[in-house]
Parts: sequence; C-alpha cells; structure tokens
Amino acid sequence: MSGRIPQSFINDLLERVDILEVVDARVKLKRTGKNYVGLCPFHNEKTGSFSVSPDKQFYYCFSCKASGTVLTFLMEYEGLDFVTAVESLASIAGVAVPREAGKAPHADKGEQNLYQVMERAALYYQQMLKNHEEAVNAVDYLKNRGLTGLSARDFGMGFAPSGWSGLSSALKDVGEADLVSAGLAVKSEKGRVYDRFRNRIMFPIRDLRGRVVAFGGRVLADEQPKYMNSPETPIFHKSRELYGLYEARRAVRRLDSLLLVEGYMDVIALAQHGVPNAVATLGTATSEEHLTKLYRYASEVVCCFDGDKPGRDAAWKTLELALPVLSEGRQLKFMFLPEGDDPDSLAHKEGKDHFQHRVAEAMPCIEYMFRRLTEQLDLDLIDDRARLGERAIPYIKLVPEGLLRQLMMNRLSMLTLLPQDALYASAGIATQTNRQSSSHESGPDMRADNRYEANNPTDASQKTRPSRISKYLLGILLKHPEYLGALDDEVRTYLLNGLPEDSLFRTVVHLLDSHPDLDTATLLAALSGERYHALLVELAQAPAVLDEKGLKADFLAGAEKLRKGADNARRKLLIQEIKKGGSADHLAAFWALKQGKMARDADEGPQGRKGETEQAEGE
Ligand code: UTP
Ligand code: MN
Repeated sequence: MSGRIPQSFINDLLERVDILEVVDARVKLKRTGKNYVGLCPFHNEKTGSFSVSPDKQFYYCFSCKASGTVLTFLMEYEGLDFVTAVESLASIAGVAVPREAGKAPHADKGEQNLYQVMERAALYYQQMLKNHEEAVNAVDYLKNRGLTGLSARDFGMGFAPSGWSGLSSALKDVGEADLVSAGLAVKSEKGRVYDRFRNRIMFPIRDLRGRVVAFGGRVLADEQPKYMNSPETPIFHKSRELYGLYEARRAVRRLDSLLLVEGYMDVIALAQHGVPNAVATLGTATSEEHLTKLYRYASEVVCCFDGDKPGRDAAWKTLELALPVLSEGRQLKFMFLPEGDDPDSLAHKEGKDHFQHRVAEAMPCIEYMFRRLTEQLDLDLIDDRARLGERAIPYIKLVPEGLLRQLMMNRLSMLTLLPQDALYASAGIATQTNRQSSSHESGPDMRADNRYEANNPTDASQKTRPSRISKYLLGILLKHPEYLGALDDEVRTYLLNGLPEDSLFRTVVHLLDSHPDLDTATLLAALSGERYHALLVELAQAPAVLDEKGLKADFLAGAEKLRKGADNARRKLLIQEIKKGGSADHLAAFWALKQGKMARDADEGPQGRKGETEQAEGE
C-alpha cells in the first residue's frame, strides 16, 4: 500500500489509543496521583524520572527530557519508523490505515523489501566466509589479527568472493533494480550490473533492531580504499548509524557507559576481550546526532582518541559539538591512547583489565576542556587569566543550564580568580543558586552503586564507598553544606575523626570543615578529582525527598546515630578487651565513653534516653 496517511486519521488514532496502555505494557509504571512514573526507557537511570500523563496523553522524562505522544513513544521505544508506528497504533485500535492518493512520504513496502534483501545478503556473505574456497585467505587474515570465530559470528561477519556476480546470482529472484537500490550492486555507465563488494571481508552494519542496513567491506591487503561502505539508501544514513550499538545493547542488559571508538575492528576486538560496550561511527566525524543517540542508551559516553595531533584535534571538535547536548545527567569523558596504538591493538596486547583501567582514567569533559584551554597560558599572569576567561565563556555558554554549567563557571572562577557573579554577568547568563528543589516524587537512590566502580575492578587503592546511612547523609550535606555547622560539637568531631580514614564522607566533611562557605557547585568542583565524583554529583542532584526542615532534622539525627553506632561498637570492643584482662587504658577509655553517654542522656531527658536505649541495643 502506498500513498500518504491522512493527518486526520493520525489525530484520530492518538485519541483512540491510550498512551498509558501502550507504555505500561513496556515499562513498569507506578501510579502517583494523576500520573504514572517508572524508570525511563530512553536513558539509563535508577530513579524513576519517567512520567506518563493519561490526562495529557503525553510522556516526559525529567532527566533526559525525552517526551512525546504514544506515537513518538512507539517510534523511539520500538525503533519504528513513522509509518510502521502508525500501522502498529492502528492495529492496537483495530482499524486499517487509509491512504491518500499521491506520492508516499515513506516507501514502506519498498523499505521492508530492502531489509529482506540485506538480510539475505548478510547470510550469503556469512556462508561464503565458511565455505568459499577463496575465503581461506580471509579466515587466515582474521586469525592473524587475533579474531576468534565466535567474534566473527557475533558480529555476523562474512566474505564477498572476487567474482562480479556471486551475490547477484545467489539472489537471482531479487532483481537487479532492487540490488542496486540496496547498494549491493552497481550499475555501470554501459548498463551492466555487477556486485559492489568483491574480495572483501564483510561487516554487516545493523540498526538498533538488529536489521542489517548496510555493509562495510575490508580488503585483505594494503590496498586502497581499505574499506568500502554501502552508499546511502532509504534504510541507511551513514552519519546516523553507529556500528556496534545493536551488539552492545544485546550484550549488556543495562548500559551505563558507551565507549566511542574509531573503527569496526576496534569494536570487535574490544568485545572479544570483554569490553562489550564499544561503538564506532562509520568513518565519519562524530555528530551531535550520534551523541544524542548514544545518550539515549547510556548516561556516560567515553570518547576514545589517538594520542597524536589529529586525534587531539578530533577530540576537541567532539567536545565542541557535545557541549550543547550535555544536559543534566549526561556525562562525557575523553581518553587518549598512546601514539601508534588503537583500541584493537591494545585489546589484544593488554587485555580487558588494563584497557578498562584506561577507560576509568578517562578525563571528565570539564577537566579536558580547561586543560586544553589553559594550554600555553601562565595562570600566574593576570593577562593570561583574562584570556582564559575570554576563551572559556563562549564554550560554557553552549552548555545547557544545569549543574555542569555551574561547575564550569566555578572552575573558571577558581582559575581566573574572578568572582563568579562577574563571570556570569559577562557571559550574559543567569546565576543559579538553588536548584535542588524538585517537584517530582522519587527520592535519592539508596541501593548500592556498582556502576561508579565497575570500570575499575583492579584498582584497590581507592576510597571506600559510603555505607547506606553515610551515603544518605552525604547526599543531604552535598545539597546543604551549611548543615555541617549546625551539628553539635561532639558529633562534628566524630565525623571529622571517627569515620574511616579513606571514606568519601570524611573527605567531604574535612573539606567543608576547612572551607565552611563552599556551596554545592563549588564543593563538587573542588572534589572533581575524587574517585567517586560521579556518585557525588548524582547524590547532589538527586531530588530531595523532604523539605528543608525535614532534611536538616534528618541530617542532625542521622549524624548523631552514626556516632552512637560507632560508640557502641567501640564499647563492645572495649568490654571484650577488659574481659580478656585488658589494660588500665581500656578501662579508662570505657569509662570515658560511658560518662559521655551519661552526660548526653542527662541532657536529653528521659525520653531521649529511652529512645537511645532502644536504638543502642538494636544496632
Ligand atoms: P581505521 O583505518 O581505523 O579502520 O578506520 P579499522 O576499523 O581500525 O580497520 P583496520 O584495523 O585498519 O583493519 C576507521 C573507520 O573509518 C572507516 C571505517 O568505518 C573504519 O572502521 N573507513 C576507513 C572507511 O570507511 N574507509 C576507509 O577506507 C577507511
Ligand atoms: Mn584499526
């Protein structure tokens, strides 16, 4: 069926099909008042920022800002094109799609046909890699490069023999015209049709649904061009596709981070060595569209570049075009490889752990930006500080309003020694002071976060991850650094000296103790070198579950409880020592603890004491 779908029909469909029903069948939703919330399917998250309004027949993600109607939802979620999504809606509503006479905006049947042709071609190439006598060289070549048969299979690799019509004969029933429009065959000026890919190792390029939309074909020797790619077709747009994204999504249930590399072979070698989250552009520069697509599936993108001059230039270009898409919750990092190496060679040479270590060491975009902008500047000189301000502001202005932009401004202020107000004024953007109040209802996520350390399993010399309670308190303190000053002296002293030396909470407490005036953004900027910086940012950003009064009360009570817990543990230890015949020191320490407790009990009165006894025994 061809012809345009009447707009009135689409409007009608949108009224008939309930968004809630469609979304609810795909995303776990919970009712909250008028709306329904759940984990956003369009980005990786642990808090439910995704909200569906049955009244407005609209969905919206507070975090990644994905939004739309049931139609856009189906397109995005199922990876459907417009026409297919309309058809899918129509079938839910139980009606047929009418068509207006005239040219179809989407040649849907034609496209369906192209997908089938591509799939058959992929199968043909795969069979040739297994069976064709010429494939011996290709197999040797791949083996020499360290690729296993399993990797070849996972990525659907194949081989195109050297003849001019191998594929065309195998797909005789398809017809020359369709082979040409699929980009698999070429028509010469004289009108002869021949196979486009000959004597090449074939890399199928799959879309998000796993459909083959194009091929890259590599020569076996050092000929040029090294790769030949499918031309643009109705189903393939080179600058939009990302090689390996389908495979990465298939291999990793929830992608936290995606690694952007350069080549097909990099993606495959990394996957083979246990780094399944790498993707590559198809030989084109990274575009904003690529990044937006990546952030739909992971909150962090790590861009991997060669350490040489072209690599560094490409990295900077990527940063420039990425800044405008770095909305809340999206993280961008840069990593540079030693000159002469690429991810492919490093994966084989170093293996997973070393490579993951490199990834873990990747530079956050703020870091990278200021490092690059301060190159060749001497920040001891006032002129150079002014120059840095002039250079940095245009970039900072590109960043959407939010924490990242604030952090950049803070950093700039620290580096230039210019007050932030002045910088905001000269950038012509408004200062943001209080962003933590948030209307939606999800609280901070208290579950253990593996993802902040998952990158770096080998490195043991890292900070202890905060326990549940200290993480909760840390989250409050990050939002309200001023609460530290509100603690009573004993508890404060405990937080300063009694927490584990290497704990993140203690680091933050110490920093605030020496710089009581730090606000959230500056605090985060000052902590930007910390191992768990991403966790800190997330804690600071997590919407508050309580109002300020409640938060403060929680913080004070929670800190007190932490200290009591520690006192109790120590008292038990001392009692054990004393029973074993401990020293006079043990006894003295025990009495000191006991007295402190009695003094506090007296202060609190009988109710306080009761409360405490329960708690103390319960711990
Ligand atoms: P590379 O030269 O880094 O390719 O180009 P590679 O994938 O690492 O392959 P090997 O290791 O040399 O075998 C990076 C990407 O640029 C595109 C391809 O997408 C390739 O993966 N490219 C490169 C082309 O499209 N055509 C070319 O001739 C070369
Ligand atoms: Mn390579």
